[in-house]
Amino acid sequence: MNKLDVKLWTLAARGHIVPDRSLLKTPAQIKAIKKSAALNTAVLDHVAAHIQAGMCTEEIDRLVYDFTTEHGGIPAPLHYEGFPKSVCTSLNNVVCHGIPDKYEFLEEGDIVNVDVSTNLGGYFSDASRMFIIGETSPEAERLVRVTKECVELGLKAAKPWGHLGDIAHAINTHARRHGYSVVEEIGGHGIGLEFHEEPFVSYVTPKGSEMVLVPGMMFTIEPMINEGSPDFFIDEDNGWTVYTIDDGLSAQVEYMVLVTETGVEVLSQ
Ligand code: MF3
Ligand code: CO
Repeated sequence: MNKLDVKLWTLAARGHIVPDRSLLKTPAQIKAIKKSAALNTAVLDHVAAHIQAGMCTEEIDRLVYDFTTEHGGIPAPLHYEGFPKSVCTSLNNVVCHGIPDKYEFLEEGDIVNVDVSTNLGGYFSDASRMFIIGETSPEAERLVRVTKECVELGLKAAKPWGHLGDIAHAINTHARRHGYSVVEEIGGHGIGLEFHEEPFVSYVTPKGSEMVLVPGMMFTIEPMINEGSPDFFIDEDNGWTVYTIDDGLSAQVEYMVLVTETGVEVLSQ
């Protein structure tokens, strides 16, 4: 056993959840995954430069597919467990996993999450942003602002040798302080060598709970914040689109992060 193994073993013996060594990326893997993450961020920048009122969400899909493949990547959502498109576009009362559609148009006042995931050379990255189309209501603007703050506060709470629950606590506390709720059953995930790896990342668990944050771990911080109830239902026809149960607005922001010896580095946002 080396020093790290001893440390992990000791933590586990004290009842902490520790990552399997396979979840700790090597320097060579980190280098390759960072390239994927840089392309992922560039795709989001490309969407940000072109998104506008009157556009259909399938045009966003086209932007993502073309830009990603022109840069040697593959959009990770495409055909992932049967997902039919290259990106998730989630409008207003859609919590996540919205499918781009040629008959769905962006209108002034809409809030939309664009969730981009990239496979570059077999290495995976994932991040999402909220876009406000033109001017929206003060309520929608506040939800989007608070959701961004939640992710920033979650990031600040993330420390090597801390716990995933520290992130959740920071996010859940901020959301509730503003009268919002955090979706419970859908969360973040490990990422890098696969699109979705362990651990599942909840944003409603207590401080000091869940997996220990060990240098080399990579995962997403991506809470879904609802105006009203945290409950949702899934579209029966397409099996993907997640809607708020009360038709309230939902927002989400996703950062992909790496735990290092000294802190937590954002790889894509
Ligand atoms: N990008 C989503 C996430 O953050 C994954 C969506 S799965 C898909 O986990 F197939 F819908 F793309
Ligand atoms: Co994502």
